[in-house]
Amino acid sequence: MHMSSDSIAYCAQSPWLRNLTLRENILGESAFNRVWYGTVTRTCGLQTDFSTLRKGDETMVGTKGISLSGGQKNRIALARAVYSRKPVLIVDDILSGLDQSTEKKIFHRVFGRNGILKRSNTTVVLATHSIHWTSYVDKIVVLDSGTIVEDGTYRSLSSRPGYLQHLKIQRDIEPVEDGVETASVHELVVEEPGTSSVHAAFLTDGENPVNRRSGDIRTLLFWLATVGWKHLAVYTILLTFSTAATTLQYIWLKWWAESTASKMMYMSVFVAITLADIVLVGTLIGAHFSFIASTDVGSITNRFSQDISLVDGTLPTTFINTTRGALSFKNLSASYAPMSEPVLHGIDLRIKSGERIGVCGRRGSGKSSLVAVLFGLLYHRSGEVLIDDVDVTSITPALLRSEVVALPQETFFQPGTVRENLFPWKVESGRPPASDERMTAALDEVQLLLKLQDAAGPGQSALDLRLVNAEELLSQGEQQLFCLARAMLMEGKIVVLDECTSSVDIATEKLMQQILRQPPFSDRTTIAIAHRLDTILDFDRVVVMNAGRIVENDDPRILIETEGSLFRALVESQGAAQS
Ligand SMILES: Nc1ncnc2c1ncn2[C@@H]1O[C@H](COP(=O)(O)OP(=O)(O)O)[C@@H](O)[C@H]1O
Ligand SMILES: [Mg+2]
Repeated sequence: MHMSSDSIAYCAQSPWLRNLTLRENILGESAFNRVWYGTVTRTCGLQTDFSTLRKGDETMVGTKGISLSGGQKNRIALARAVYSRKPVLIVDDILSGLDQSTEKKIFHRVFGRNGILKRSNTTVVLATHSIHWTSYVDKIVVLDSGTIVEDGTYRSLSSRPGYLQHLKIQRDIEPVEDGVETASVHELVVEEPGTSSVHAAFLTDGENPVNRRSGDIRTLLFWLATVGWKHLAVYTILLTFSTAATTLQYIWLKWWAESTASKMMYMSVFVAITLADIVLVGTLIGAHFSFIASTDVGSITNRFSQDISLVDGTLPTTFINTTRGALSFKNLSASYAPMSEPVLHGIDLRIKSGERIGVCGRRGSGKSSLVAVLFGLLYHRSGEVLIDDVDVTSITPALLRSEVVALPQETFFQPGTVRENLFPWKVESGRPPASDERMTAALDEVQLLLKLQDAAGPGQSALDLRLVNAEELLSQGEQQLFCLARAMLMEGKIVVLDECTSSVDIATEKLMQQILRQPPFSDRTTIAIAHRLDTILDFDRVVVMNAGRIVENDDPRILIETEGSLFRALVESQGAAQS
């Protein structure tokens, strides 16, 4: 097939956003057309998001979309692709990051038979593992291990034994009318678990994959560039003053000891210098989320604990006392900036060591904010949070991050070997790095060892394999499994999972869910934000959030039996969307 890349719009599975305003991200290279822009953003459900932002679509995205949820990023990327009005649109599994009801809405509005793409006569190739949309497309292609194993219309494939029949599809809402081909999606690539996705084929055709930076100096330069030279200059000046203040303290003490003049004068100056030093040091290391987001080192922080420790290994972390992993939120209200409205209100939650808690609730209900507290990213306005018996605000962020293991939705890799990527925080934690045996065992457990060994070549250890471009070697699911192995090797007694399985295929999700129920995870206190509620039905407890408050907190088996419970309603709405 020959086609200029000018006529194809492509929407990747990991949304690509630039640090510009939301509007600029949607416009991309296209010119602004008010009517079309309005139509596209409405269709992609973005106008409600805009209305919640003070600056609307003029809001800056921040590096890699720091302040946006995974679903919002997906919808912005989709809006950009639709806005560009190219005759061909290739979409790689963009729907999987959306919650069920949004997914349904977006599918119908964008890809449905009266959807915006049908109306603009766009040819669509959709790679997906959401098989419930297969009845809406003109043609289905099923891939397995890189080859096409089935293709045809929904009716022809579902009437004969094969992948589609095997998956027992029940159609969502309106059935396709007999004999009428009304679907708008022209081709749909259903991926068998483990299959490489369609975008690889298109990317290598014409477009060069971006060459990844590698090497330690480049990592440092990359970090410096992310921070920005302006902030670095301010940091350097503050650091200089702070160092000077510390030195002055010693000198002043010496003068004081040698002098016979008024003690009061020496004392006051000493206190003044000390206070200045505390303020400066506080400014340097006490930065909260609002600072980080507005100065755009956000993407690093967003990836939670382990990743920021790659670059700030200087905070003291040697005085760890191992925790048991008990947690209590006591009437906590917290906000993202010192003066902004709290996003969490009166949170009361006691979690015993080793307990497994599922957190659910609608988008924006405060689930991510609840766990962000455990990484010291929010301002506590009232109440407190204790790990064992220690108030988290009294612990340095670095220490906090070594006690709380995070598995976020976004995967993260640095240029370096597999070993370095498995244990990137070895230096600053003060702990010995995990042994090669443990690392190899962890890779084996997540079923990546063979693949990495193959890639390393004969006689080479998988651990020494250099990951120049991890995104190219590993599929989205495999990247997430790699991060799971990384989390396995951490020692922290508390594990936080933020919808980490929501954008992987079914087989990977199953494997991850299984591993998360085995040691070492089964011995740790687990807090899992769940996208799919069936993944937390066997948990000890479920916390349902609504508008920044905990509205239900009980055994999921009890909640699901309770007439009128929000949890039951959420489970039912998911069931309806899936069937
Ligand atoms: N970085 C941020 N800065 C300011 N407000 C935020 C930020 N992230 C989330 N919020 C707000 O906090 C509230 C809860 O959001 P969040 O915790 O992300 O919900 P959920 O994870 O349940 O979707 C929302 O009103 C959201 O707008
Ligand atoms: Mg969230």
